[in-house]
Amino acid sequence: MVMSEVMVTLRGWHLALAHAELQALLPTMTVTSTPSKRWYAVEGPMSVEGIERALEPAANVESILSHATIVEWNGSYEGVMDIFQTSLQQDINGTVSTYTWRHGKKIDGCSLSSLSKMCGGALVDFGNNIDLEQADQTFGLCSDAASSCILAGWFVGSTPSAFGAERRQATERPFFKPVSLDPRLARTAINIACGPISTNIVLDPMTGTGGFIIEASLSKRNGVGLDHNSAMIEGAQSNLKWAHDGEDSPTCVLLRGDATALGTFLPQHYHGHIAGIVLDPPYGRNSQGSYQPLELLEKTLMSAKDVLAKTAGMVLILPIHPMTVFEESGFHHDEIKPLHGTFSEVQRMLSVCGWTIEAMFTERVHKSLTRLVVHAKFVLLN
Ligand SMILES: C[S@@+](CC[C@H](N)C(=O)[O-])C[C@H]1O[C@@H](n2cnc3c(N)ncnc32)[C@H](O)[C@@H]1O
Repeated sequence: MVMSEVMVTLRGWHLALAHAELQALLPTMTVTSTPSKRWYAVEGPMSVEGIERALEPAANVESILSHATIVEWNGSYEGVMDIFQTSLQQDINGTVSTYTWRHGKKIDGCSLSSLSKMCGGALVDFGNNIDLEQADQTFGLCSDAASSCILAGWFVGSTPSAFGAERRQATERPFFKPVSLDPRLARTAINIACGPISTNIVLDPMTGTGGFIIEASLSKRNGVGLDHNSAMIEGAQSNLKWAHDGEDSPTCVLLRGDATALGTFLPQHYHGHIAGIVLDPPYGRNSQGSYQPLELLEKTLMSAKDVLAKTAGMVLILPIHPMTVFEESGFHHDEIKPLHGTFSEVQRMLSVCGWTIEAMFTERVHKSLTRLVVHAKFVLLN
């Protein structure tokens, strides 16, 4: 059994990235794994409301539950109900209801609807009024087939929901190119690179169709995107406006400029205030880089030093040859085969430019291409 004041459930296609996003948005909290790969206990100084606000921009947070309990299914409804008593018996303002959902298949012999009815009965016994249409508070029950566990607790905010990026899929935008990033990956990368929402400025030095800047803007972050190709900047601007229903972004701008000379192309007021970089350099025939890929990366990282804040985060996305491990963050560096150069060269250039690798993830793009997602930190030493 695991109990926690707050438990977060994750959705999404990539659990290692989802976990990294959760930790990045809650840097002062301890995020602890549980028997289910999609459920995390969150403990520390923040209030429940503070956690809810901090997780608003997340791409991978499915729900937040308070007074939560996880129990392994042992075949006995009574046994499970005994363990859920503490979670159920809370001081509740207003009416209540229950909500069930599953991660994976059903757990053999366990009916969530039966458990839900029993929880409803217990809530009435504790003096609560049920309202199935519009309850003030909802008690959630989730099963996880892989661990054979059940999670119960009170929803903080809404019941489980999707990220809701379907409407702004890259292919739906006015300006689409095959290089356009998926909104979920773009949003996740920004959150990992930048951490909690603040006045920090997100920089996308090679913005292409604007995938990162759209997500930065929709999550109300300050951001600036650059591309040396004016057709890309025009297209990205139309995409950004489209994402805001025809209005200008209140927090982000897109400028034509060269990523290898950021000190020159970024207006002075950004200098020293860039606290997060999201970098998706070109590869393949859809891009028009003027340097060899590794040279372009190194020159970009060098020039970033002119504009970075004293501490900054980065998510760098690099094309690599397919690997067998896709969803884990722990794998051997010598397995990584970049499309351009060697991984040791990439490591060396990150280190020379002041970056320390925090974590790495891989994501399959298609049969012959994988992405390496590198999370790095920059600290100015004097
Ligand atoms: C892989 S694409 C970025 C795709 C982008 N993440 C998106 O969602 O559309 C790389 C971009 O880098 C741009 N680029 C290449 N060299 C550049 C440079 N020196 N300065 C600025 N942009 C550059 C290319 O024009 C291209 O649009």
